Amino acid sequence: MAGRISDADIQALRERADIAAVVGDYTALKRAGTRLKGLCPFHSERTPSFTVDQARGLYHCFGCDEGGDVYGFLMRVEALSFPEAVERLARLTGYELTYEELSPGQRRALGRRTRLTDCVGEAASYFHALLFEEQGAAARDYLKQRGLSREHAEHFRIGWAPDRWDALVRHLSGQGFSQDEIAAAGLASKGARGLIDRFRGRVVFPIFDAGGRDVVAFGGRILPTVELQTGPRDGEAPKYINSPESEVYTKSKILYGLNWARAEVQRRDTVLVVEGYMDVIGLHVAGVRHAVATCGTSLTAEHFRLVEKFARRVVLALDADDAGFAAADRARALAEEAGIREVGVLPLPADTDPADLASEGTDAVERALGGIQTAVEFQIGHLMRGADTSTPEGQIEAYRQTFPLLARIADRALRYRYVRDVVAPVVRLSADRIEAELDQETSRQAHAPAALVPAGPAPGADPGLPRDPQLRLERQVLQVALQLPELLPAEWHEVDEDCFTAAASKTLLAALRATPDGSLDAVLDRLPDDDARTRVRRLALAELTVDPDESAVSELIGRLRARAIDRRITEIVERLTAGAEQLTTEERRRLSAEHYDLRRQRDAIVEGRHAARL
Ligand code: UTP
Ligand code: MN
Repeated sequence: MAGRISDADIQALRERADIAAVVGDYTALKRAGTRLKGLCPFHSERTPSFTVDQARGLYHCFGCDEGGDVYGFLMRVEALSFPEAVERLARLTGYELTYEELSPGQRRALGRRTRLTDCVGEAASYFHALLFEEQGAAARDYLKQRGLSREHAEHFRIGWAPDRWDALVRHLSGQGFSQDEIAAAGLASKGARGLIDRFRGRVVFPIFDAGGRDVVAFGGRILPTVELQTGPRDGEAPKYINSPESEVYTKSKILYGLNWARAEVQRRDTVLVVEGYMDVIGLHVAGVRHAVATCGTSLTAEHFRLVEKFARRVVLALDADDAGFAAADRARALAEEAGIREVGVLPLPADTDPADLASEGTDAVERALGGIQTAVEFQIGHLMRGADTSTPEGQIEAYRQTFPLLARIADRALRYRYVRDVVAPVVRLSADRIEAELDQETSRQAHAPAALVPAGPAPGADPGLPRDPQLRLERQVLQVALQLPELLPAEWHEVDEDCFTAAASKTLLAALRATPDGSLDAVLDRLPDDDARTRVRRLALAELTVDPDESAVSELIGRLRARAIDRRITEIVERLTAGAEQLTTEERRRLSAEHYDLRRQRDAIVEGRHAARL
């Protein structure tokens, strides 16, 4: 490539290309209403949920949530970089591209990342080659003893980092990488006499990005039987060391093994999260290929957001102890935030890690997978086992701890089984009594706000509408605003962020307001992150859930506004009653006036609705 492709070309080519023709080479499309549908080329499915909007030049799969424009499609389906996708499309359509020279600043910014990933990639090749040379013998023995063949070592690109101070630094320098680049890539640190290799005398596991194209970091393990020449001796060296964060590596956003696990993750709609590199490798070798690991850190919200792009279910392999309980608790909170619907736990037998399990063979692993519990069940079991139930106080304490967990079991029949068989006998309360308290709690929770779009799509279907009436309305109104803005009544301008309760709705409204020309591309550009873009694209391409006529839309907007007013009225009434003593006369007068005003506005909206219907 001679330089940068001009923006004008990128745009012109996108407009000119027929996305349906491009996609049609990979999957058969059939017309369905204003869209085309087909089987998703990115995950296996039997009913078509892959949707193409020819007019807008967009695609989206409601099964796996992949989506984007024609370039995004080519990048994903052919594993191309952006410029490569542009060039491919140009060739397909016979379009002649013009290239611009890069400005020095652009070249630096673009070049830096590439240089650092090249540097890490070169290190991976160097380590990998050494594993099969003479000096890699001890490492090869170790891997063999752990049940890994040469093919496995090749598949996972395992390497050997020599037990020398600067072997890698010298190699990379010889390949033209600067000292600064080697350090910035996290491969060496500054010592008194120059750079020192970070990984010395270790088996190294390269960590790939989710696409599997670039190595971004390493984890390195010492050999149990060989004393380090270049490091702390006497068992002082940590078992594993990991690359530090760098311009190309953010721990909280990378899962070890996701590159190899992706297809199976999508097929099972589940990600199995384990702790170690060897656990992932062991499981994959045993044929359990949806396993990934964090790289020496705990799971973060970003990990869950990453996972949410591929599967709706996360299963954590955890020890049945206090640490496991805490991990399940944390995972549930993070998963909920990320829109992951289900968190499961694979309880590990004491002193066994998934790699041990895997070494017993595929059957042993599959048997263990049969014992997966929901995180809540796992936690309840732990609390019940640990409770001191020798006194009524202890029993009730155990009940109080368990209660919020029981309240989270959505399946009522299952919940009842837990109440009757697991909890009631231990805490010595009748199952009926516990059920009654739970019913009270769940009806209270039903009024709490949830997310704009229900977590995760149903396989092969539009994600559907949220059950909560407020969120339902928000979704419907925003969908009209995205798909049929010409149907919006004048009152649309009265709709402000107070009309919405979900943060995602407010963000989308702001983006819509800031985009008067209504182009979806421009709206997407204004959203804060890829996640928001995915959700909005989904909303824009999902089947309309509203009658496409002006009076229906006007009615919806009236309801949305009326509900906002109702919420504010409730708030005022609460302040005027519950906290009345703390109000000054002036404040009380102002609230009353606002109350009066709101009632009038509300009446006007309701009457307007009637008028529209007559
Ligand atoms: P474990 O100590 O459980 O190791 O650490 P393991 O996976 O069972 O390793 P093997 O089977 O003995 O080879 C689990 C994970 O915790 C991180 C690594 O990511 C490791 O894979 N870890 C562990 C570190 O980062 N540093 C350490 O010193 C130890
Ligand atoms: Mn282990």
